[in-house]
Amino acid sequence: MDQILEYIEGNKSRYLDELRDLLSIPSISTNPENKPDLERCAQWIGDHMRSVGLENVKIFPTPGHPIVYADWLHARGMPTILLYGHYDVQPVDPVELWTSSPFEATIRGENLYARGSADDKGQVFIHLKSVEAYMKNTGRLPINLKVIIEGEEEIGSMHLDSFVRKHRNLLQADLVLISDTSMFAKNVPSVCYGLRGLAYMQVEVVGPNRDLHSGSFGGSIHNPVHALCEIVAQLHDKNRRVTIPGFYDHVRPLTKKERAAFKKLPWSNSRYANDLGVRKLYGEKGFTALEQVWARPTLECNGIWGGFTGEGAKTVLPAKAFAKISMRLVPDQKSERIAKLFEKHIKKIAPKSVQVNVKYVHGGEAAITPLESPGVQAAVAALEKGFGRKPLFQREGGSIPIVVQFKQLLGLDTVLLGFGLPDENAHAPDEFLNLKNFFGGIRTITHFYNELPHYMKMRRKK
Ligand code: BES
Ligand code: ZN
Repeated sequence: MDQILEYIEGNKSRYLDELRDLLSIPSISTNPENKPDLERCAQWIGDHMRSVGLENVKIFPTPGHPIVYADWLHARGMPTILLYGHYDVQPVDPVELWTSSPFEATIRGENLYARGSADDKGQVFIHLKSVEAYMKNTGRLPINLKVIIEGEEEIGSMHLDSFVRKHRNLLQADLVLISDTSMFAKNVPSVCYGLRGLAYMQVEVVGPNRDLHSGSFGGSIHNPVHALCEIVAQLHDKNRRVTIPGFYDHVRPLTKKERAAFKKLPWSNSRYANDLGVRKLYGEKGFTALEQVWARPTLECNGIWGGFTGEGAKTVLPAKAFAKISMRLVPDQKSERIAKLFEKHIKKIAPKSVQVNVKYVHGGEAAITPLESPGVQAAVAALEKGFGRKPLFQREGGSIPIVVQFKQLLGLDTVLLGFGLPDENAHAPDEFLNLKNFFGGIRTITHFYNELPHYMKMRRKK
């Protein structure tokens, strides 16, 4: 093990150069014009997998962006890890708010800034470098490894579900490992055991059959932008609860034990508010901030538009207005049911003076992973060795919908072992990966390979 860790130390600057190269590819999955970049990124990952010693590298085309597969299966009698990650990234706008160019990874202080540095290319790369360190020093891995890296996570993993169904046998394993979450705080490693689900909706409000002069018509026609604002304003009550009937029907309540565990975490509301530059926190009454984000369902307007938004002034009563609205879900809500309830409610509260169309864009279910699983136990031991500190247990407010599919389709539990940070600016300008976390992550994954067989054996003996 010492030799492997020394190898990691000795290769730090090359690792970073390679990561910079990966991060220079603008693999923005939602932009049709970046399609060739996604192909190139998949190829880059496949080539790199081969160079670190993984075998059977295959790039599976999908109707969307390709899925990259590789494996190394020569540790007989040892557990098999299915590693999942994504190489696609979010758009970079507003690009003018980036301190350095989003696809020219730049080190400032102890962070590496680039789109995808934390979410999720940098975290995928952590795993490839652990494989390399192991393979180059021992010629083998202590476990069996299967890897799938997809290119559509940020847009709802539309083609992953059918891929997993079709390749059920190829993907058989003992557990799933994912690094696409954050540590609790700097120098505070954690294992994540809960993710929220999602139902993403688009609302279109249609008024007059064309844009109108706001002087000639304003006052006699319901402005769709106003109608949309009236609708959005009704979606929360004064206790900041979502007003959609039936929304909370299947919400699994927090247990006393879990609430007590959350309260013990090193957390400060005022620091949180200060960091984000808000005067006051704002959320559902009766719950703490961590509870609101990790374990309560919420509704957010992601964007709202219509009419004239350019520079200067144009007097117009627009024909249409739009909003993208997402709901984060918790166990045991079901995304499709929530999407239906949303549509029904919006249609019911919509003023009769406009027409409203609702589209369900995509969704996925919340996940809770078992803390007592050998994978989680091995992760705890590995984090302690990798970061020199016992990890905390935490949930997250974000979503990785495939976690539930892995359980349903392959019967596998997932270990969420993330190396991001809560303030890493994922999906926003100046996204970064902390370099200590990058190298700590590589060490941790290397230890995880070593620890896992022990914990799996202990379970078998029980
Ligand atoms: N890395 C995130 C998931 C995440 C976010 C985990 C925050 C923990 C905290 C992932 O890449 C992501 O952004 N997922 C989307 C999923 C959606 C498009 C279905 C999300 O959460 O918005
Ligand atoms: Zn993301």
